[in-house]
Amino acid sequence: MALRKIAYIEDDILRKKSRKVETFDERLHVLLDDMAETMYKNNGCGLAAPQVSVLRRAIVMDVGEGLIEVVNPEIVSREGEVDGVEGCLSVPGRQGYVLRPQKVVVRGQDRNGKPIELTCEDWLARCACHEIDHLDGRLYVDIMHEEVFQTDEAEEEKS
Ligand code: NI
Repeated sequence: MALRKIAYIEDDILRKKSRKVETFDERLHVLLDDMAETMYKNNGCGLAAPQVSVLRRAIVMDVGEGLIEVVNPEIVSREGEVDGVEGCLSVPGRQGYVLRPQKVVVRGQDRNGKPIELTCEDWLARCACHEIDHLDGRLYVDIMHEEVFQTDEAEEEKS
């Protein structure tokens, strides 16, 4: 496994639409392994392939319940709406409020091409929507309704 370089907000690759994965080979497995390592090293809860400059439809997530990989993920149903604060490894140092479904059902494939279906709620639903957005070139900053600004006090606490 290897760490991959994260693309940042000014990089055009984050605005492109990723292509469907058709070949479930060793190259895909290495990509997924590297994505997980890169996500964990950067304390992220999700990462999409375009964030490591690969325009393929693959995401990894871990909201504290173990690693989840989804290839060619699609949201097939959504329920409810919740507001919450999001950040993104491609947009360091910023956070914003985004409305997301409370629950989504995601269909896709595992690393070997086997169909999978996941019911995601709360943080996992938020994370899945955020990562799938990346595959279509969309960032949370495009859809946030309010940016979170660090107060002076919060800055002091960090230093
Ligand atoms: Ni992100």
